[in-house]
Parts: sequence; structure tokens; C-alpha cells
Amino acid sequence: MNKIIRVLFFILISSSVVVHAEEGGLSSLEIEVYRSPTCGCCGKWIEHLKENNFIVKDYVTNDVKLIKDKYGVTDQMASCHTALVNGYVVEGHVPVADIRAMIKNKPSVLGISVPGMPVGTPGMDMGGRQDPYQVVSFDKDQNYKVVNSYEGN
Ligand code: CU
Ligand code: CU
Repeated sequence: MNKIIRVLFFILISSSVVVHAEEGGLSSLEIEVYRSPTCGCCGKWIEHLKENNFIVKDYVTNDVKLIKDKYGVTDQMASCHTALVNGYVVEGHVPVADIRAMIKNKPSVLGISVPGMPVGTPGMDMGGRQDPYQVVSFDKDQNYKVVNSYEGN
């Protein structure tokens, strides 16, 4: 009897998770991530993606600079990892909400970045500390535009 209840409970939990995912329009997206083998925060950002229904192709490389140059990520925009999703570049610790917003709005840019590695971004959690940071879009002519801002605490 106890076992049946546990099974029913499990079914209930799993089905409510599915419903929530559909309500939020959180379709699964495939994303390629290029990172160096020694990058710990990159792995944590990848976890953030997976928790939010992204299918991650994880590419480990010893030359992330080569990837950044190839996809138009300048030194001003650079962070640790570089990712590709739906034809856009995602540089650094960008929250999934901003990735999904870009995919939905289809701006004519190369991609978006959170330059550097601000504390409190997804994958850069440090005991609840949150530095202010901005999500910046960039194009091939090095035009930069702030598309979202997060406050610090
Ligand atoms: Cu990082
Ligand atoms: Cu990284």
C-alpha cells in the first residue's frame, strides 16, 4: 500500500513539472558551449542552462580566444565561455531569461554578453552576493547596446 502511494505521488509530481514547463513556454533549446577544461564557473553556468530546459553540447577547448574571434566577440565583450544558440552568440554568464528574450525578439545582432564575470550571475554564485551587471548586445560593427540591467545588493 505504502509503495502504491509513493508511486502515485511520484506521478503527481512529474506531471505538475511538465505542466509548469509548458505554461512558461519553456521549449527545449539546443545550445553549444565552448569552454576551457579548467573553467569551474562554466560548468555551473551549464547547470543553469540544463535546469532551464536547454540541451547542452559541451565543447572543451584550450583556445577559447580562437572561438571568440571566429564569432565576433571582442575583448570588451569577452567572458569565460562562448555559446551558440539559434544562430546567436551568448558570451559569459547570461541568464536564460535574456537568452530566451533574444530568441523571441530576433534582434539583428551577433549576440549578447555579460562581459567579465560579475558575482551573482548564474554560475557565479558567491553566498548571495550580487554585483550589479548588464546584458549587452553586440553586432559585427562593434555597436554595443544594453538590453537588460540587474541591480546589486
Ligand atoms: Cu565564468
Ligand atoms: Cu564560463
